[in-house]
Amino acid sequence: MDDNSHPIGVFDSGVGGLSVFQRIRADLPRETLLYVADSGHAPYGNKSAEFVTRRAFAITEFLLDQGAKAVVVACNTATAAAIAHLRVHFSFPIIGIEPALKPAVAETRSGVVGILATGNTVRSDKFAALLDQHGHRARVMAQPCPGLADCVERGELSGSHPRVLLERYLEPLLAAGADTLVLGCTHYPFLIPLIQRLAGPKVVILDPSPAVARQLRRRLEAAHLLADGRAVGGERYFTSGAHEPTARLMARLLGRPVTLEILPERFR
Ligand code: DGL
Repeated sequence: MDDNSHPIGVFDSGVGGLSVFQRIRADLPRETLLYVADSGHAPYGNKSAEFVTRRAFAITEFLLDQGAKAVVVACNTATAAAIAHLRVHFSFPIIGIEPALKPAVAETRSGVVGILATGNTVRSDKFAALLDQHGHRARVMAQPCPGLADCVERGELSGSHPRVLLERYLEPLLAAGADTLVLGCTHYPFLIPLIQRLAGPKVVILDPSPAVARQLRRRLEAAHLLADGRAVGGERYFTSGAHEPTARLMARLLGRPVTLEILPERFR
């Protein structure tokens, strides 16, 4: 098999990265994709940067073992903690994700932007650098959202638990006049209907997955690694967590059946 037909690996702490995976699938239909949900260790949002970095290395090693030609870190928290280290260690293209602050400050009319993210992302040096670069053009309010990714991991996309959390997290942002909300965690796009309902129809919600898919395409093109076959690429899914509930949840989020494999022991 030539390098172009090798798979692209995508991973997250759990099912959240499927929001990015779906976009990659839609934009790059010929690529073979591997998805790893590190559900056995989710959430990453309250773990140490060392722990998240260790997990990012283990999963990237696994994807390399599977012949991956590129890896997408479909997790803001893991990108903030580990991407610089991964890029030093591995030579294939590694694409990360970060809160879409640049488009948000361009978009806002009220001049107030709210960012919903994990505590780890908000406290990271990478986020501080992003704020330094783009934050001066608007009032940027970063809101850590403990427990919100866990709701998605449990399949609670509506109902009282995510609603109560979101009401609490959105309140200070909306009270300050935020008209643009950045989803700084890949789990949150699955909560967009609820967020939109609570924030109101005029608030713009930004999900960075389309930008990640574009960046992936650019990097593959530059490295002459884009899949050149005519057939639609295949998909494989892996988890470090419990098989049945994860498979059910993934199928629900993707809207199609999923055959889930357990991550081999040495990468768990
Ligand atoms: N989906 C992840 C992110 O984009 C992390 C959620 C978590 O594990 O806390 O940050």
